Amino acid sequence: MTPWLELGRAKVPEGDLILSQRGNEFAIRLRGAELMNSRAHQSEDKLAFLGCAGLLERSGVQVLIGGLGMGFTVRAALNVLPADAHVVVGELIPEVVEWNRGPLASLAKAPLEDPRVEVVLGDVGKLIRGARRRYDAILLDVDNGPDAFTAPANASLYGVPGLTAARHALIPGGMLGVWSVEDDRAFTGRMTGVGFAVKQHKIPPHPGSGARHILWIGKAPAL
Ligand SMILES: C[S@@+](CC[C@H](N)C(=O)[O-])C[C@H]1O[C@@H](n2cnc3c(N)ncnc32)[C@H](O)[C@@H]1O
Repeated sequence: MTPWLELGRAKVPEGDLILSQRGNEFAIRLRGAELMNSRAHQSEDKLAFLGCAGLLERSGVQVLIGGLGMGFTVRAALNVLPADAHVVVGELIPEVVEWNRGPLASLAKAPLEDPRVEVVLGDVGKLIRGARRRYDAILLDVDNGPDAFTAPANASLYGVPGLTAARHALIPGGMLGVWSVEDDRAFTGRMTGVGFAVKQHKIPPHPGSGARHILWIGKAPAL
């Protein structure tokens, strides 16, 4: 069997984040646990497809995506957005951005080279809190879910204050999409509680998989 080859390493507070390659397969791991694999991105693609639905016909669309990962959600968003759209990508780890400009670039057809994309290094939560009625859509895939955080500070994204901030960062009727490895009823309740009209989707990680990832797609109130 082809061995895994280490391509890159990033020091994060939780340990070493390691990018590896085996043939044409790439993985990002933290303390041995696989956070991402290039062979499974169907739900990451769907997050963008569902969260950006209907934006192709509009002009001046603004979308916020956090985080970058392997770039699949960003590519899927670019595929359904108009030519004059502006996509802000919030990513915490500089090495992840470097890897997307280097060894990972071809996986999602180099989304960072698209002139519609602006990468902002840092916490996507800060970008959300700093925006008022700006974004047509906000897509969040920064953790394993609303109860399983990559970084402890990410908890604040999923509570009532975090969801309220997301609602204020969206234009009226804007869309908030959230990715998770598993269901979380309390989170559905919190999204609804701050005013989002929520639809939940169960998406296999890749065709033929028996597992299901969860997407929440919430529409902010019209006013
Ligand atoms: C599972 S990956 C995203 C996968 C991505 N949807 C894709 O299609 O490849 C999660 C990413 O979020 C980043 N991240 C985690 N917390 C973040 C935060 N608070 N702000 C910005 N990026 C964050 C991680 O460094 C990682 O790159």
